[in-house]
Amino acid sequence: MYKLMLILIISFAFIFAAMQIQAGIKDTKHNLSSSGPGTIKATTETQICVFCHTPHAASTAGPLWNHSLSTYNYTVSDPPGLLGSQLSTPVTGGSRVDYGSKLCLSCHDGTVALGLLYNKPGSGLGSGAVTGLDIKMPGIPGAAGSPNLGTDISSTHLVSIEYNQYLVDDKNASASDFRWKSPSDPSWTAAGNKIKLRPTGATYKGPPNTGKGVQCASCHDPHSSTYPMFMVVDYRANNANLCEFCHY
Ligand code: HEC
Ligand code: HEC
Ligand code: HEC
Ligand code: HEC
Repeated sequence: MYKLMLILIISFAFIFAAMQIQAGIKDTKHNLSSSGPGTIKATTETQICVFCHTPHAASTAGPLWNHSLSTYNYTVSDPPGLLGSQLSTPVTGGSRVDYGSKLCLSCHDGTVALGLLYNKPGSGLGSGAVTGLDIKMPGIPGAAGSPNLGTDISSTHLVSIEYNQYLVDDKNASASDFRWKSPSDPSWTAAGNKIKLRPTGATYKGPPNTGKGVQCASCHDPHSSTYPMFMVVDYRANNANLCEFCHY
């Protein structure tokens, strides 16, 4: 009986979380279903989550991940002298972009059709593109303001970089005006903080000692319509809310 109640409570909690996500995403450009507010959307498919997640036959690349991954090796520019040899990250395909950032780039690098899924909605359909979305991300790759970041992401803020004390100490020892916040600073875990270090296999000096660093989802929440551009905080009101959380 208690077990059953526990299961019920847990499933309600999950459904509640999913309902909140659905409420947040519905009015955003990430609603690629036919009810989406943007111009890029499916002809008839009504499910919202399916373009990124599936309960079955999911890829292990991310949480129940459903969108076909890109096979591209990205061009990234690591700051001179700092990363390079210290970043020993053999990521599949030779690219050093990993984990959550690969999920975003599966649509945002402009090489994969937006509706190309591992598990198409409907039973037994297997992989394929949803009708109306057999198109790639529009926009000039890498141009300012373009949703198509392209495959040269050297003009995007670094992602897939471990954020550890070595990095912070190296940065703070340099002549820069900026200070870097320690990964053990209590503000990371403070209630209400939305800026999170996310999983990465990248290392900064020696073996990874945190397993966490900066990924797209440190700054963006793909489900949220709270702030423009899926930002996790009100960055436009004051960019200190975001940038100066890490370097101030
Ligand atoms: C446009 C793509 C996209 C859509 C659509 C989408 N998600 Fe996600 N979701 C993601 C990505 C990317 C992550 C992983 C974020 C990370 O950790 O980097 C994620 C993570 C999650 C997680 C793990 C917890 C978390 O927030 O990290 C849950 C639960 C989830 N999504 C639920 C949903 C539900 C429910 C829907 C539909 C209402 C949905 N998502 C629609 C992209 C999407
Ligand atoms: C399934 C494909 C898909 C995935 C996965 C995806 N996006 Fe998007 N994203 C889109 C589409 C489509 C648009 C709308 C482009 C347009 O209208 O020109 C968009 C728009 C955006 C925008 C601009 C929003 C605006 O209001 O103009 C941002 C920022 C963004 N995505 C960030 C992300 C991040 C960060 C992730 C991963 C956490 C992600 N996206 C994952 C498809 C995707
Ligand atoms: C350090 C924080 C940070 C990281 C990391 C980050 N972004 Fe952004 N991103 C921003 C900010 C800030 C904007 C501009 C928001 C605005 O216009 O108000 C933006 C804008 C965008 C846009 C809108 C188009 C444009 O170029 O203005 C897209 C799409 C996008 N980001 C996707 C991504 C993806 C995909 C990743 C991971 C590869 C990523 N971002 C990593 C902070 C970040
Ligand atoms: C979650 C923490 C985090 C946030 C938030 C963040 N950054 Fe960064 N930033 C980093 C890390 C980590 C690096 C890469 C370290 C390196 O250069 O070796 C970096 C590098 C940089 C660099 C290159 C500096 C250098 O010394 O190499 C600039 C410039 C920068 N960020 C600006 C921004 C801006 C602007 C924002 C807000 C839109 C922002 N950052 C938000 C963590 C963050």
